[in-house]
Amino acid sequence: MSNSDSPDPYHWIEKSLHTIHRASWHRSVQPIEGRSGPSVSMAGQPSVNFASNDYLGFAGDERLIERAIAATQIYGTGATGSRLLSGHRPLHRELEQAIAQLKGTEDALVFSSGYLANIGTIAALVGDRDLILSDEYNHASLKNGAVLSGATTLTYPHSNIDQLQDLLNNHRSRYRRCLILTDGVFGMDGDVCKLPQILNLGDRFESMVMIDEAHSAGVLGKTGAGCAEHFASELKKTSGNKPCRMVQMGTLSKAFASLGGYVAGSSSLIDFLRNRAPSWIYTTGLSPADTAAALGAIALLQQEPYRLSQLHQNSQYLVRQLDQWLTHRSAQLPDQLPDQLPDKTTYPLKRLPTDSAIVCLQVKDAATAISLGQQLKNKGIFISAVRPPTVPVSRLRISVMATHTLAHIDQLVTALTAVLDPKKT
Ligand SMILES: Cc1ncc(COP(=O)(O)O)c(C=O)c1O
Repeated sequence: MSNSDSPDPYHWIEKSLHTIHRASWHRSVQPIEGRSGPSVSMAGQPSVNFASNDYLGFAGDERLIERAIAATQIYGTGATGSRLLSGHRPLHRELEQAIAQLKGTEDALVFSSGYLANIGTIAALVGDRDLILSDEYNHASLKNGAVLSGATTLTYPHSNIDQLQDLLNNHRSRYRRCLILTDGVFGMDGDVCKLPQILNLGDRFESMVMIDEAHSAGVLGKTGAGCAEHFASELKKTSGNKPCRMVQMGTLSKAFASLGGYVAGSSSLIDFLRNRAPSWIYTTGLSPADTAAALGAIALLQQEPYRLSQLHQNSQYLVRQLDQWLTHRSAQLPDQLPDQLPDKTTYPLKRLPTDSAIVCLQVKDAATAISLGQQLKNKGIFISAVRPPTVPVSRLRISVMATHTLAHIDQLVTALTAVLDPKKT
């Protein structure tokens, strides 16, 4: 029975949206036209794209598009059901074997997204008698996985190994199992986790370690295998030739230009997840097109290793250009009173430490981040303005691709200078 005078149970939504707007936290999507790439078209205007996680520049690659089309023609558009109930395609297994080979693990399991890989794996590995220790800057899917698992979760300050050790000392013995969670490359910062020290603590305190390689696989390491390869020589010193025991999660949606997530590790871990990870068991498998594209991207990474060096060169070039500009800028700023600056709301500006393809410029507040993002867009630069609650302090997040040219990067720095120091351009 409905009564038009009864209170509207949804009335709070408008109020809540109003609060979101007032805090400059409102989010909306920006349409991009045409094929993915280092430059795209937005509202008919060309834009250099620094907002994409397509680090290796594969998402618009003709060869991967052809593979996706061929797989669709052979197998159809959908996986039609969960892999356990409806059967899977040989492509699914081939992809898992290719991931295991890239990561140097015994086996791998492909989930329908990275988010699902994280929540399902964490919930399978720990429960309410267990402890999770999680870096404060971890991705939302790790944090939500921790909540869903029912384990007691304690957060340690970002990359603070001493604090992690204190937590282990003070709490580990009261729990059955312990799982340490960390991003490999922190996606909204760009720095790399301290994996050797974390693994060392894991060994000392009989704790599992799960690393999220969403922004490190296809980016770090000699062959793009990610953090374990990046730290290979340090890890060899501490563990000799013993295989590195950890749960390596990643996504197929960034450097591998497709959709889906994975966990790579020992064959017993993978077999266990196939039997216990709810977000793998009770969801539809990856579509044939996505599976074929991811498989093709891993093969291309191996055939075209120059893409990795191009990505590193581009990232380093950007950091050098930004630092030169910021050093020059800060040398000039102390002579000016803040209210004489061209736009005092943009001061100060700080580049965050990075060892990856993500370079962030921290700004004063959310409104500044949005305003800068919009001004850069007007100058043909597409960049993500990241605000709370995603990050504690607002920033411009610049994502570098192997297929950017140095001219693209120069264009970005020129646009930043024009927006932040208009008198000098
Ligand atoms: C660190 C990290 N983990 C997990 C995910 C989720 O991956 P997916 O987009 O494949 O669901 C993301 C995606 O933004 C991420 O940045």
